[in-house]
Amino acid sequence: MKRWILLAVIALLGISLMAGILDEIKARGYIIMGTEATFPPFEFRNEKNEVVGFDIDIGRKIAEALGVELKIIDMPFDSLIPSLVTKKIDMAIAAMTITEERKKSVSFSDSYFRAGQVIVVRKGYPPIKTLEELKGKKVAVQQGTTGDLIVSEIEGVQISRFTRFTDAFLELMNKRVDAVVLDFAPARAYVAMYPQLIITSDVLSEEEYGIAVRKEDTDLLEFINDVLRTMKKSPYDLLVEKWFSQ
Ligand code: ARG
Repeated sequence: MKRWILLAVIALLGISLMAGILDEIKARGYIIMGTEATFPPFEFRNEKNEVVGFDIDIGRKIAEALGVELKIIDMPFDSLIPSLVTKKIDMAIAAMTITEERKKSVSFSDSYFRAGQVIVVRKGYPPIKTLEELKGKKVAVQQGTTGDLIVSEIEGVQISRFTRFTDAFLELMNKRVDAVVLDFAPARAYVAMYPQLIITSDVLSEEEYGIAVRKEDTDLLEFINDVLRTMKKSPYDLLVEKWFSQ
């Protein structure tokens, strides 16, 4: 009899350990998304100081599909992966490039956007077209980003690493650095905001964004990929599915 109870307890414990993060999220009624909100149009603060953008809307779709609320935590970009690993957030949606290095600590969803780094300078200065031409220059990047990585590989560059892109751009406007290196779409958004600035390079890298989750949370990863797949379907795709799938 006693052994029976012990076995039952062990079995129950096993089941509760197996119950994935999805059940936990549904039970608590919210999913926590981590991001870094100085990266328009993916994540930034509007006039009302609310965090909005493309990634936020993706986060909302995921929360909606789960039937829970979306909580957003805005934090330094290089805190996102540590916060995932220590369970402060459930997913990171932050225009985060899928890299082999990051894959050592987290899992990425299917890619949802193509991107690449570009160089932004002040208008009226000699254009900087290639990474090579950054030699001997002062360059601002966001700490821990792929822009930081590729600029760090060039010798003889003086790098200033910022937590917030807004500060990196102030530095450029105030002529304390010669260039900022970042992803193309946010670069375009900042140049539109500061007409004194200009993008002078081609797109210098090939990157793809993914949503990061903890490695063990395979149920959440599958769920996110399903939501992304559904979002990518056109009304036409849905009709074909409706009438021709079987
Ligand atoms: N795509 C680049 C990276 O993964 C930059 C992302 C910065 N994102 C942000 N929300 N600040 O490193």
